[in-house]
Amino acid sequence: MSKNSKYRSVTPETDIVYPDVMGLLEEEEKKIIQDTWENVKSDATSYGNDLFTRLFNENPKYLEKFASLRIIPRNKLSGHPRLIAHGTQVIYTITAVIDEIGFPGIVTELLFKVARSHFKRQVSRQMFENLCNIMIGLMIERLGDKVMNKKAIDAWKKFFNSMIDVMIACYKNCEKDQMLMIEF
Ligand code: HEM
Repeated sequence: MSKNSKYRSVTPETDIVYPDVMGLLEEEEKKIIQDTWENVKSDATSYGNDLFTRLFNENPKYLEKFASLRIIPRNKLSGHPRLIAHGTQVIYTITAVIDEIGFPGIVTELLFKVARSHFKRQVSRQMFENLCNIMIGLMIERLGDKVMNKKAIDAWKKFFNSMIDVMIACYKNCEKDQMLMIEF
């Protein structure tokens, strides 16, 4: 392959049927998600920091995937602007999905972008699940069990599960894409 070769995907876009990410959620559950997320949104940097601090404490191997974070000494990671910036970016992405909760087409497109970049980084379903479970845990700790009651926790589990389902469905498309890359 020459250095300047260009590639084009020939995967038909309609080939994969994506699950309707929000289809399983009742209207009441969507409202709970939106209302509880307001708290996270308004404290995004702090949630972002704690989310990734905890993710790396519980799964130190994940850090190897993060070229810009793994070079920071472990004891300086929590509170480091680079970690906070990354965590905040993830919170903003989830915010975009929640803002578009009533528009499955837009939600799928948003998640497709995340799936594409994370497929290349070999981020697995289990890794996504671990991150989402930590997020739910943080919300329970910070918002208390009156706000994060059983109904809210169930809604969040459903939401994150569907989100991950869509991304993993996107991965299938990425696999095909990779196989069908042709030089032109
Ligand atoms: C709901 C879950 C997640 C969301 C919404 C999310 C979102 C993002 C976004 C928006 C970026 C920056 C844009 C990009 O480069 O794609 C990013 C980068 C990245 N994500 Fe995620 N992510 C999630 C979960 C994870 C997990 C579980 C891992 C691995 C354990 C991971 C690994 C990475 C890596 C390695 C980068 C590149 C960081 C760098 O710039 O060095 N992500 N993610």
